[in-house]
Amino acid sequence: MPKIHVHAATSAAKTGKDYMAVHDWLDTDPDKKAERHDVAKVHDNGKLIEAQYGAEGRREFIRHIVDDITMTGISEADIGILRREGVTEDDIAHCVKVAEKAAELAVRTGAALDMELVVRGALFHDLGKAKTHAMEHGKIGAEMGAVLGLPKSITDVMEKHIRGGLTELEAIELGLPVKDYTLNLLEERIIIYADRLVDIITEDVVDIGPDEREAERRFEEILRAYPKYGKNEITLERYLGYHNEIQGLMA
Ligand SMILES: [Fe+2]
Ligand SMILES: [Fe+2]
Repeated sequence: MPKIHVHAATSAAKTGKDYMAVHDWLDTDPDKKAERHDVAKVHDNGKLIEAQYGAEGRREFIRHIVDDITMTGISEADIGILRREGVTEDDIAHCVKVAEKAAELAVRTGAALDMELVVRGALFHDLGKAKTHAMEHGKIGAEMGAVLGLPKSITDVMEKHIRGGLTELEAIELGLPVKDYTLNLLEERIIIYADRLVDIITEDVVDIGPDEREAERRFEEILRAYPKYGKNEITLERYLGYHNEIQGLMA
């Protein structure tokens, strides 16, 4: 099931308001959660919600339940796989945050996207960190993912996420297998953009304040100022390309 802030981000993208109170009512009380999600009670519960939050609130309430049914979201089973494979809790927290951010960005673009690929690709992108934090974690993660039976679309993201999609020349320079790492799918580019944003948001290198979207507003400036994020000219331009494309879709 999507996490609560993915629901809130969906509402915000569709209506301009996050309707957090409605999502909170649905998700937060563990004793009432099942009843409040009961499809047979949608009509009665919807009337309750409408009395408090209006017709739009009622639509967001229904959308939440439909999204739970149709979207994959971040599953506990997938988090269990990361844990079993030996990914540390810190790295798992990063993977979850990237999955949430990628889902939020995907919804905000308004594009028809494969949400399962967005969420699971993001969640598994750093699986290889179970073995190493070196550059090879992409390649190793993809190999581990293949053994686990993850779809190729997901292991592709894992392998290609290093520096946001390398050219053949960069692969040679870095001593990685020479192949085409181009991020052909918007889903892949959203995951890579989310990964970079989450690093900026969660690491203490830049103070972006309480509003996470500040990392988007200051993205170019931050990448140019901090080589940790921009790496080098070619990587920086690649990230800016994804940033401009995705921000353009969300505008
Ligand atoms: Fe990574
Ligand atoms: Fe990452």
